[in-house]
Amino acid sequence: MRVLIYTGKGGTGKSALSCATAAKVAETRRDVLVMSSDPAHTLMDLFEAEIGPKPTKVTDHLWALQVDPLKEVKEKYGIIQEYVAMVFKAKGLDETLAYEVASLPNMTSFLSLLKIVDIFEEGGYDAIILDTVPSGEALKNLYLPTLMGSMSRKLLKLAGSLVGAAKVVEPLVKIPAPSKQVIEADLKLLDRLEKLKEILTDSKKTSLRLVANPDAFSIGNLRRTYMTAGLYGINADLAVINKVLPDEVSDPYFEGWRKTQAKYLAEAEISFYPLPIRKVRLFKEELKGLRLLRKCAEELFEDDDPLRVFYEGRPFSVEQGEGWMKFVIKTPFLDKERCEVERLGEEIMVKVDSEVGEVRSFIPLPAITYNMKLSRAKLIGGELHIIFEAEVDERGRIS
Ligand SMILES: Nc1ncnc2c1ncn2[C@@H]1O[C@H](COP(=O)(O)OP(=O)(O)O)[C@@H](O)[C@H]1O
Ligand SMILES: [Mg+2]
Repeated sequence: MRVLIYTGKGGTGKSALSCATAAKVAETRRDVLVMSSDPAHTLMDLFEAEIGPKPTKVTDHLWALQVDPLKEVKEKYGIIQEYVAMVFKAKGLDETLAYEVASLPNMTSFLSLLKIVDIFEEGGYDAIILDTVPSGEALKNLYLPTLMGSMSRKLLKLAGSLVGAAKVVEPLVKIPAPSKQVIEADLKLLDRLEKLKEILTDSKKTSLRLVANPDAFSIGNLRRTYMTAGLYGINADLAVINKVLPDEVSDPYFEGWRKTQAKYLAEAEISFYPLPIRKVRLFKEELKGLRLLRKCAEELFEDDDPLRVFYEGRPFSVEQGEGWMKFVIKTPFLDKERCEVERLGEEIMVKVDSEVGEVRSFIPLPAITYNMKLSRAKLIGGELHIIFEAEVDERGRIS
């Protein structure tokens, strides 16, 4: 089973492209399920059909499901959250705040992703296609099982058999003991997170597809998602720039738009290099209904299979030694072009004098470099090598 995830800023066209892709897959008689955790009516608007929280048939080989994020949270994390909130309350936190602190980062969107595991295990589809908000924060949760390790899991199991005893010491330590149910829910969540990670980080199974419009905002956002996904081992295989003005629009009113779009398309080529980039035109009307969705997918994929892995590889590599780190990024720039690199907080700005004039590109940096200083940068064989060094204090210690 293949999993395709369309991600990007709100309104860029994630849901529409998910549905369009699914419609094209279904035409080849492969069973496909589209899933969305958007506000309830999104899939209904796009398919112009009634869609429920269980897989609903839209047409031959095509099913859709509207995830109810609050239900997912309640089912998958409810008991745990109750318990954690109870602990915080016992520590003197106000109840509303206790629940707030006990929630996971980006909980609703993240726990909706766990639905993939349910569907994967039930089987029955050739592909699941879903849209999700771009969030590195949420992806961090994938690493909970690894962070907790197998040792703490054994402890949790042990605690499960000791809950009776824990109840006895509860008044002494002033922390409510977890019930057997809480521990079981914890173990189950960890287990499902591990499965989700296994599915998402297997490039043969999962492809992340980046959706942006030709504007600064949506491209900027997505650049960091592309980098973070690479860090977490999720394979992005395609960037789609949606809502591009088609050539046939010649009205002088749109001249300014056409110029800025051309500039952002060039920027996207650099930002998402070496991913293949596909453009989708701004349709004459709102993109919805099976007929238009099919047309959109036809233009987007042409003769290609939408389930194909379009690219495999990470956008960067990292080498590390005592007190230094080398960050190597694939770039479309050539050795002979003059480049200038400057650090601006969490990003570096690369200025290149190329044949088409000065091109600027912003590359988000991984957190490890935040305590390091930029030492030097060089273009070598289509790659930008950036070397960071640890800050050394006056006694020569690495900080
Ligand atoms: N290429 C396009 N041409 C015309 N309308 C589009 C196009 N892509 C998306 N839309 C419309 O833009 C709106 C937002 O799209 P949607 O897929 O809901 O975005 P997202 O899921 O990223 O928030 C919808 O009304 C959709 O029909
Ligand atoms: Mg959407």
